[in-house]
Amino acid sequence: METSTRWNDFLRRWPQRPWIIAHRGASGLVPENTLTAFVLAAEQGSDFVELDLRITSDGHLVVLHDATLERTTDGRGFVHEHTLAELQRLDAGFTFTLDRGTTYPFRGLGLRIPTFEEVVACVPPHVGINAEVKSAPWDPADRQRGQAIAERLVAFVQRHPTLRERLLVSSFDHAVLDTIRQLDPAIPLALCTVPLRPLPEQLHRVVEHGYDAFHPMDVGFDEHGAAVVTSAHLHRLLVNVWTVDVPERAVELAALGVDGIITDYPDATRRAIERAFGPRRPAGLVATS
Ligand code: G3P
Ligand code: MG
Repeated sequence: METSTRWNDFLRRWPQRPWIIAHRGASGLVPENTLTAFVLAAEQGSDFVELDLRITSDGHLVVLHDATLERTTDGRGFVHEHTLAELQRLDAGFTFTLDRGTTYPFRGLGLRIPTFEEVVACVPPHVGINAEVKSAPWDPADRQRGQAIAERLVAFVQRHPTLRERLLVSSFDHAVLDTIRQLDPAIPLALCTVPLRPLPEQLHRVVEHGYDAFHPMDVGFDEHGAAVVTSAHLHRLLVNVWTVDVPERAVELAALGVDGIITDYPDATRRAIERAFGPRRPAGLVATS
């Protein structure tokens, strides 16, 4: 299946650029990867929400960034060593603070680690979902879990066909993306990268593997950025940059023609871009007939 075919429905549904992609939901304002963060992101006009997928000891897909529980919850230890029932008893708003620890306004409010299914159900259908499969390429055990997540994710998509119209899967681990491609070639895939290699080389890996989008880190999005966007578009690849929390930087990236801005502050980012350029318009790649 050609890349262009895989993307067509997305390009038709979200022709405006750049896409505002809410990183872990509106995670700059409320606890990340919670239903509260995803609902707020949708209310704030995000085009997509980005979320992180991990797997429980009893094989459920849950939405949490870290491999361990300490940073965002009142739990301890590895996510994959807990059952879903155990994780659902934790407070996912426990550590969130906007004033460096003076107050914890979301503690005890009942925020939970959501399952992937719960997130899909709570994000309105006009908002796309960028599910990032967590799998550390340098850790064989974590990579195995990444494969298990990939298999369960594909099975989930096959049971929920309408999800196809709005699901983009990303990962730092190309093995995860290759497994998904093998199991279900119609799912659009994005490779996330860090600037360990020059930006053009990062893009080259995406082209080589035949993925559909390139998710580079903003820190490494350097003087090669404009050329890389042009080259990506010639290959019919989208470029979505993470994580951009300074509105002026989002405006710079938008001027370079990137397709999506992955941000913890979707509302502020969208407003800054609209202030700079007016209402977002169709641009970049268009659907082929
Ligand atoms: O998918 C983009 C971004 O989320 C990748 O980094 O660590 O925030 O999941 P991380
Ligand atoms: Mg992520």
